[in-house]
Amino acid sequence: MQSMDDASPVKWHLAHTTWFFETFVLGTAISDYKPFSPDFRFLFNSYYQSVGGQHPRPRRGLLTRPTLDDVHAYRDTVDLCMKDLLARAEVAPSVLDVIELGLHHEQQHQELILTDVKHLFASNPLQPAYLKGVPASVSSRSPALQWLPHREGLYWIGYGGSSFAFDNESPRHRVFLRAFELASRLVTNAEYLAFVEDGGYERPEFWLSDGWIVARARGWRAPLYWDRDGSGGWFSLTLAGLRELSPHEPVCHVSLYEADAFARWSGARLPAETEWELAAAAASIAGNFVESGRLHPTAASADEWPTQLFGDVWEWTQSPYAPYPGYQPPPGPLGEYNGKFMCNQFVLRGGSCVTPRSHIRATYRNFFPPDARWQFSGIRLARDCD
Ligand SMILES: [Fe+2]
Repeated sequence: MQSMDDASPVKWHLAHTTWFFETFVLGTAISDYKPFSPDFRFLFNSYYQSVGGQHPRPRRGLLTRPTLDDVHAYRDTVDLCMKDLLARAEVAPSVLDVIELGLHHEQQHQELILTDVKHLFASNPLQPAYLKGVPASVSSRSPALQWLPHREGLYWIGYGGSSFAFDNESPRHRVFLRAFELASRLVTNAEYLAFVEDGGYERPEFWLSDGWIVARARGWRAPLYWDRDGSGGWFSLTLAGLRELSPHEPVCHVSLYEADAFARWSGARLPAETEWELAAAAASIAGNFVESGRLHPTAASADEWPTQLFGDVWEWTQSPYAPYPGYQPPPGPLGEYNGKFMCNQFVLRGGSCVTPRSHIRATYRNFFPPDARWQFSGIRLARDCD
């Protein structure tokens, strides 16, 4: 099991999202604002160096105080102040922009609460279930994979609209893409299991050097949360508890390293984020999101291609998380939100089964280090055209 260093307790997420509004909205918009607790400025600061020090992330789980009741009182107090602020006749547009950012930030943490609870429950020998009952998969089969061609050309990439988007999605700019083909659906558990059973984890020829070292050092033999019983049957831990591995559901909880090795074994590759975005720009934002209540990816059912672009699992791309041409982080502390992480991480696209539907866009860029497995992360293949 990966260390808990990446995951945070629910109580911390609840307090941190409130801290965001208190620090970046109330603390700047109200001249005589008195913080709820001076200690919370430190405890619930995630990574904003310009705001001050932080309690180290790996130690968040050790915070038995403040209590959950204290955190709820913090949230209630800040919520009331926010209501008072919004009731004022004049709220500066710049403040409204930060409030909107705070809402999208809170949605990100709603998703993280579920990924972190799953990790926490998986670390408990009793393997408790978050959901009662196992929601059925939407489909009991997976359609044959098709390769959808895209022509070589110059394409516009990035956010150019007037609604909300994160700073890392712009500037909109042109990219040249060679002709490529994108898989019509996600890689399934059955397809990934074939890689496992073909010795995929023992064959260095498929692996990036860094990935091979990490997989060896951590003893990876299968995706996170996969397990075998005595008779060799495969199971996976879901938010509804341990259940038999469903062959048709998308493979989930793989790292970039595993996704890349699988793609190489398949004779394909991961898509570039620009290729993914080109395909997704024309697709409607529909899929298996948190609102479905399954909290688990589901088998492809659509006869319309491509499918599963949105929801189910975040799709690893081969693209390093880097600034778009002309990108400038916003001035001030909120410039730390995205820009400073543009090193040693890879872009994932499309949202997952624990992402709120209203949170995702075709241009949305999520990012994680290549060894991260605790997110709902999966694989869509691409390949070059001859
Ligand atoms: Fe945050």
